[in-house]
Amino acid sequence: MGRHSFGAGGVDKLVAPAARAVNVVKSYGSGETKVTALDGVSYDFPRNEFTAIMGPSGSGKSTLMHTMAGLDSFDAGSVHIGDTDLAGLSEKELTHLRRDRLGFIFQSFNLVPTLTAAENITLPANIAGRDVDEEWYEEITERLGLAKRLNHRPSELSGGQQQRVACARALVSRPEIIFGDEPTGNLDSNSSREVLEILRMAVDRDDQTVVIVTHDARAASYADRVVFLADGNIVDELLNPTIERVLATMNGIEG
Ligand SMILES: Nc1ncnc2c1ncn2[C@@H]1O[C@H](COP(=O)(O)OP(=O)(O)OP(=O)(O)O)[C@@H](O)[C@H]1O
Ligand SMILES: [Mg+2]
Repeated sequence: MGRHSFGAGGVDKLVAPAARAVNVVKSYGSGETKVTALDGVSYDFPRNEFTAIMGPSGSGKSTLMHTMAGLDSFDAGSVHIGDTDLAGLSEKELTHLRRDRLGFIFQSFNLVPTLTAAENITLPANIAGRDVDEEWYEEITERLGLAKRLNHRPSELSGGQQQRVACARALVSRPEIIFGDEPTGNLDSNSSREVLEILRMAVDRDDQTVVIVTHDARAASYADRVVFLADGNIVDELLNPTIERVLATMNGIEG
């Protein structure tokens, strides 16, 4: 391969990573307009850890996340969620995997406009026929500052409030992995901190796995590890990141 293999899971690793990408290639378009968004990305996202993905605009962060989460197809390589090889799944099986095992916080919040905040939060659990843990529901809606907004529809909420509803929705059923694409992108610093603390708590207290894309060094400092993408390749990795080290690494990549 001629490149470093960051975070490669050794054969001695007993537990399968929460998610694994092996030589994933994905391009958009063809001929002169062809863009290689992922150029052979391999990475193990460890179980029960919080991973942040960083990198310049257009470096492939969202593409990697969508591919890992079974939302986008890819051209070559393989993607696993736990022991499940996504390439072997039908559309229907992929839908079930996303519904039953993954949580999403995306830039476009994908809230259902006709449902209240409360109904949006419990919708995935209801569709999957899962019970909602009342205590956890109250804790996250309280901490996310949504307690007084639960009966409002998305159009009656600010962008930041909608984003927090999307966070609560992703967290409420304690999925195996929570994927977030800039989950704090539209939030003020207080809301942002609440979201990051809740994601941190999901990992530390509830044994979940969190993978987020972020442009914010402070957000990345909440993670256990940061993976840096540039031009569709993983170019660096930091363990136990501090804001200073994240900024220095970003400067090195963009410089
Ligand atoms: N649907 C699409 N059609 C064509 N090209 C695309 C599409 N989606 C992404 N790309 C291209 O693939 C590359 C990677 O895009 P991606 O959205 O993964 O970047 P990103 O790192 O998430 O950037 P940002 O920080 O701006 O969100 C970019 O060059 C982008 O223009
Ligand atoms: Mg993006």
